[in-house]
Amino acid sequence: MKTIAVIHGPNLNFTGVREKAVYGNQSLQDIDDSIRAYAITLGCKVVIFQSNSEGELIDYIQNCFIDEIDGIIINPGAYAHYSYAIRDALAGITTPCIEVHLSNIYKRESFRHTSVISPVCMGQITGLGLNSYLLALSALNAD
Ligand code: DQA
Repeated sequence: MKTIAVIHGPNLNFTGVREKAVYGNQSLQDIDDSIRAYAITLGCKVVIFQSNSEGELIDYIQNCFIDEIDGIIINPGAYAHYSYAIRDALAGITTPCIEVHLSNIYKRESFRHTSVISPVCMGQITGLGLNSYLLALSALNAD
């Protein structure tokens, strides 16, 4: 059975509270519950982590590699657009990773159109809300 890590970056703990027109009404707890339920149907295990701090996210990514986690789903939040440190953390491990976003970053402000993370990921799923995570989970489990 595979174990997949789901990593939520900054401000995602406020999902369901902030900018509901962009990110929806579901809380992060609701999203995590749906991810866990879907993992059961796929027959894989998920571990979920959220942090608002770049360093904590990097420590967690490195620990995923040390712990031999089978895949990483990361929503880097705004760090997607400028964190070379998170990019380097992902580039430095062999664990397959998929970048996800709730909103379609390409339909929004121009500063969101660049992801410095996507070149070191298997792929990117953006704009599908909860389904961004579920599709990534299915893909990593099948990989
Ligand atoms: C986000 C998109 C980012 O641009 C933004 O900074 C977020 C959330 C998303 O899931 O749509 O915090 O990653």
